[in-house]
Amino acid sequence: IEKNLKPWDYSWDTSIVQNSQLCQDPYKEVTENYFKDIQRHCRHRSGNEKSCVKFTYTAMHGVGTLAAATAFQAFGFQPFVPVKDQVEPDPDFPTVKFPNPEEGKSALNLAMKTADNHSSTVILANDPDADRCAVAEKQPGGHWKIFTGNETGALLGWWAIYTYKEQYGQDVDMSDVYMIASTVSSKILKAICREEGGHFVETLTGFKWMANKAVNLEKKGKTVLFAFEEAIGFMYGTQVLDKDGISAAVVLAEMASHLATNNITLTQQLDIIFS
Ligand SMILES: *[C@@H]1O[C@H](CO)[C@@H](O)[C@H](O)[C@H]1NC(C)=O
Ligand SMILES: *[C@@H]1O[C@H](CO)[C@@H](O)[C@H](O)[C@H]1NC(C)=O
Ligand SMILES: *[C@@H]1O[C@H](CO)[C@@H](O)[C@H](O)[C@H]1NC(C)=O
Repeated sequence: IEKNLKPWDYSWDTSIVQNSQLCQDPYKEVTENYFKDIQRHCRHRSGNEKSCVKFTYTAMHGVGTLAAATAFQAFGFQPFVPVKDQVEPDPDFPTVKFPNPEEGKSALNLAMKTADNHSSTVILANDPDADRCAVAEKQPGGHWKIFTGNETGALLGWWAIYTYKEQYGQDVDMSDVYMIASTVSSKILKAICREEGGHFVETLTGFKWMANKAVNLEKKGKTVLFAFEEAIGFMYGTQVLDKDGISAAVVLAEMASHLATNNITLTQQLDIIFS
């Protein structure tokens, strides 16, 4: 260490990397495959292009905008209303006190104003690195309900089973179907599995535990539909073995659109699940 207190002169010569045969940029391939994957595994129905729900989206000064817009396109949706001042990455987070959709009202203030201005009734918000997702819905009185992670987990878990049964039949054998939540999260998935069939597994906190559990279950031939934790982290399907705010956002959009065709809001559906 004493002999090498400064970086070697050629340490920053990146041309060595650029000219290497081994150097590839996987960005294009990975993103293309990602959107194909979520289209194949998370999209459940056609008709999204005629959705009567108008969505507002915020990236919270982070990286989510392009991916969320592309996911909306992959699912056939009309473009969402973007929260203009928050679409571009900005490390100073100029419009929010804490750039965390979990903070609730203060972080979503601008999103709610934007949505109100555009008669949009559902807000989808990613956190700055877009691996988590919050959802809010306008209520009949004009105020906004921001769903907690537990509540959004209940909605997505219900939807995962609802669409699974829609696809394979109401009497489909659920004995190999699993849903996962971390120990600090609500046990609603356990209750849903008790009623609908399927198994609930609890793990320690964090997606390394839930995703590894999912991998092990799938190695045994099981199907893992969904995993979540209360800090608005959602893993819908197993194509991404981590929390993913983009697939969560677009699946929530599809759920809200489908419910709206039956004149049911997300808020009402949550009450239905709880009862
Ligand atoms: C909402 O509309 C009002 C009135 O036109 C405007 O002053 C305000 O800047 C708009 N806010 C947002 C966030 O779009
Ligand atoms: C989620 O539910 C669990 C279990 O009921 C509870 O301990 C936790 O505080 C809830 N989290 C939030 C953010 O409401
Ligand atoms: C939709 O639901 C609202 C509130 O529950 C109700 O007032 C309205 O009549 C319903 N509309 C239709 C077309 O069913």
